[in-house]
Amino acid sequence: MRKLETPAYIVKEKVLENSINSLNSALSNNFKNSIFSYSLKTNSLPYILERVKSHGGFAEVVSSDEYELARLVGFDINKIVYNGPLKCKNTFIEAVTGGAIVNIETKREIKWLNELPKDQKYSVGIRINIDLADISPDDAKENEDYSRFGFSSENNELEQAITDILKYKNIKLVGLHVHRTTLSRSVNVYERVASYVSNIAKKHSLDLKYIDIGGGFYGIMEGKPTFDEYFKAIKKGLEAYFDLNLITIIVEPGNAIVASAIDFISAVIDVKKIRDFYLITTDGSRNDLDPFYKKSKYFHSLIYSDSKEYQVPLQIVGGGTCLEYDKIFEVENQNLLAVGDVIKYESVGAYTMTLSPLFIRFFPNVYLKDTNGYRLIRKKWSASDFYNIYKTEE
Ligand SMILES: Cc1ncc(COP(=O)(O)O)c(C=O)c1O
Repeated sequence: MRKLETPAYIVKEKVLENSINSLNSALSNNFKNSIFSYSLKTNSLPYILERVKSHGGFAEVVSSDEYELARLVGFDINKIVYNGPLKCKNTFIEAVTGGAIVNIETKREIKWLNELPKDQKYSVGIRINIDLADISPDDAKENEDYSRFGFSSENNELEQAITDILKYKNIKLVGLHVHRTTLSRSVNVYERVASYVSNIAKKHSLDLKYIDIGGGFYGIMEGKPTFDEYFKAIKKGLEAYFDLNLITIIVEPGNAIVASAIDFISAVIDVKKIRDFYLITTDGSRNDLDPFYKKSKYFHSLIYSDSKEYQVPLQIVGGGTCLEYDKIFEVENQNLLAVGDVIKYESVGAYTMTLSPLFIRFFPNVYLKDTNGYRLIRKKWSASDFYNIYKTEE
């Protein structure tokens, strides 16, 4: 690993495979019909998308760019789940006509349905608003007790949307979609959300083909809920209304598939003393690891290049940017790091690479670690890569 150019992400093939296989087998152990649809927004690295595809997974996309990316990777249209408010009309029409699972999120999409050929029948789903303050208050993140997404059943919005969709004689409403990434990622919240979905289907007498339960699951981690526990809870909530032999359950995990499959390495480029602690500057940045600037701890290892022992009470590890707040974490009572030592941050694959800004230094290298060792799967962006996208043809 020492020979790898830092900073860099490392995708661990075995961990990724293990996560996908465990998810797929828990799905088939619990549901007669199910679809694993990987959330591209969590990490859209084409290598990961190819692995998902090769395991029979679908692509869950939430914008026309993600939709086009999934198509470039080779996902057939009918292996795409198209969600979110940022669909564009062209890809929306293409997806519905091509047999994708399309979950309506906005009122403009309902209007776009009018542009579909009237002599053919089409199917769509709709996203339901999940108000955690009502359904599972303890699981709501601060400022996220209500959700911005989906149509609310607590007022007239869902009912009106369903009526508007069903006005089109060539459109069938075949699915309900929900998603909340909760604070606790608890199993209970899935049972509550699933029963809520059952009640809505009952209230509107819906004859559905699928329930898309979204993502938000923990991955394989000691002491955390297993896929099997999540799916049993979902089953319990849905059984109240649905015949599980007739309905397909869709899950859209992102975090559970990629978080633990990716590490990040950065090297120490400077050590200096400030007040009574050591400030360790590295060639990575908190932008690469924690784009929301919320974390203070990481699963990590310190990789020293020589074995000289010199323990110090406090080292503060910072990034290589010129941002004062680019402070990554604190190291207490460990050997003093030196220039050239490497810090490996583990399980940082979710919502990092897709959210990193191009600040000061462009996208870093990505290596794959497989049984043959390390191989570069994304070359870092150079200044000319960046410059060239600003050149338009005359
Ligand atoms: C609609 C939808 N599905 C799936 C996901 C994936 O969630 P997670 O990465 O927590 O599994 C998200 C994340 O925001 C989402 O918005």
